[in-house]
Amino acid sequence: MKEKTIFECKTCGHKEPRWLGRCPECGSWNGFEEKKGPVKNRKQSEHGTAVSIPLSSISNEEEMRLSSGINEIDRVLGGGIMKGSAVLVGGEPGIGKSTLMLQLAASVNTNGRILYVSGEESPGQIKVRAERLNISSENIEVLSETELNSIVNVLNNVKPVLVIADSIQTLHSSEIDSSPGNVNQIKYCTRQLIEYIKTRNIVLFLVAHVTKEGIIAGPKIAEHMVDTVLYFDHGEAGVRMLRSVKNRFGSVDEIGLFTMTETGLKEIRNPVDAFIMHRNLTGENKELPPGITTAIVYEGTRVYFVEIQSLVVPAKAGISRIFSDTIDSRRISRIAAVLEKHVKLKLSSMDIYVTIAGGIHVNEVGIELPIALSIYSARINVPLPPNMASAGEVSLSGELRPVSHMERRIKTGADLGIRRIIIPVNSKLKTEQRYGKFITAAATLRESVKTVFSKMSTGPQDTFKKI
Ligand code: TYD
Ligand code: MG
Repeated sequence: MKEKTIFECKTCGHKEPRWLGRCPECGSWNGFEEKKGPVKNRKQSEHGTAVSIPLSSISNEEEMRLSSGINEIDRVLGGGIMKGSAVLVGGEPGIGKSTLMLQLAASVNTNGRILYVSGEESPGQIKVRAERLNISSENIEVLSETELNSIVNVLNNVKPVLVIADSIQTLHSSEIDSSPGNVNQIKYCTRQLIEYIKTRNIVLFLVAHVTKEGIIAGPKIAEHMVDTVLYFDHGEAGVRMLRSVKNRFGSVDEIGLFTMTETGLKEIRNPVDAFIMHRNLTGENKELPPGITTAIVYEGTRVYFVEIQSLVVPAKAGISRIFSDTIDSRRISRIAAVLEKHVKLKLSSMDIYVTIAGGIHVNEVGIELPIALSIYSARINVPLPPNMASAGEVSLSGELRPVSHMERRIKTGADLGIRRIIIPVNSKLKTEQRYGKFITAAATLRESVKTVFSKMSTGPQDTFKKI
C-alpha cells in the first residue's frame, strides 16, 4: 500500500488530510504533526472515512492573521499578515526593502522567533542598520547564508514564526546545477521554501530586486508561486509607496505610504492631506490663487484630499491645447467641452493646464467636478473659497452624477476643516443631518458653478453672465 502524508493532532490523535491551525476534534491549537500513513483506496474512503468538520470550529480570519505592527503594511496585506502565507516584496535596489523587512521583524506582533536570512549583507552590516533603526528586539535571529539546505537546517533549529529571505536572487540550492539568480534556482528555492512554511504555518517574506527596465524573469516566476506580491516604489515628493499587485487574502488597490528618514521608514498615517499644499491664508493672502481647489477622492479604500491646479491662457498657436501630467487629457477635454456647451464658458483659443499638486495620479471619476470648478475659476480669474472641496462625475449632458463612498468623503472633509462640500444631487447619504450644513448638492455643472460663485464677494452673477 502507498504512503501518504497525513496530519495528526498531538492532543487527541485526530487525523486530517491537511494541516490545520486548530484541531476540529479537541479544539487545541497548533497541535498537528505531519505523519506518513497508508493511502486508502477510493472505495474504502467512500464508506465513511471522510470526515466533515463543523463550520463553527474553523478558526476565523482574525485568528489566522498576525499584525505586522506597521499599520500601512497590515492594510496593504488586507488586515495583517496571513499565517502560513508567502509574500514577495519587490522593488528597485535602494528603495528600502531590507529596511522595511527589518522594521517589520522588530514590530511584528508575536512572541515567536523571527529569522532574517540575508544573502546580501553580513550580520555586522545588519547590526549597523538595526542600530540605526533603534531595533533591539530579542527574538530576531540573523543568518548570512545563501545555500538552501543550510537555511533549512537553521529553520529546523530556530523554528521561527516568520522568516525573511533577502533576496531570492541570492538563494541557491546545491541540488540545482545553475548559478544563483538563475530562473531554475529561483524556482526551485522558492518552491522548497514555500512548501516548508506551508506545512508549518510559518510566514515567509521573500525580497526580490526588480529593475526599472522591466520585471526580470526570476521574480516573475516567483510571483506565481506566492500568495501575495507587494511592490515598493517611489512616489512623488519623497513618498514611498507599497502596493499590492496580487493578494489571495485581500484587495489589490490599497497603497501604503512611507517616507525614508535618518532613522528608517516612517508611516504616513494620515495621508488625507499628505498631498495638499498648506498655505498660510492670513494677512494680505486671504484668498487662494484662482484655479485652485480641493478634490476629495477615494482611491483604494481611503479618502485623500488632492489639490487641483488649473491655468487657462490664450493659446499661442491659435488652437487650444490641453496639458496635464497627472490627469488623462481626454478627460480634461471632455470637461472643457461640457463647460463650453452647458456653462457657456469660452475656452476656444485657450490653452488649458491642469495638474494635481504633489504629482499623484488619480483615476477616480469623482475628480471631474473639482477639475471643472478649477478650470472655471482659472478662466474667469476668480478664486474659489479656501475651505471648500468637491467630488462628483460630470456627464456629457452637463449633469452631475453621484460617486461612491460619498459618506466617507464628506465625513473626512468635515473632520479636516472643509466647510463647504459640493456634491451631486442623488448622492446616497445617511449623514445628511449631521453634516447637512456643509453640503451643497447640485444637479448640473452649471448649477454648481452658479452656487459656488454666487456666494462670493466678487459679484458672482455678473461674472457668470460676463463669460
Ligand atoms: P535598503 O533598505 O538597503 O534598500 P533595498 O534593500 O531596497 O536595496 O536602503 C535603502 C536606502 O535607504 C539606502 O540608500 C540607505 C537609506 N536609509 C536611510 O535613509 N535611513 C535609514 O534609516 C536606513 C536604514 C536606510
Ligand atoms: Mg536590501
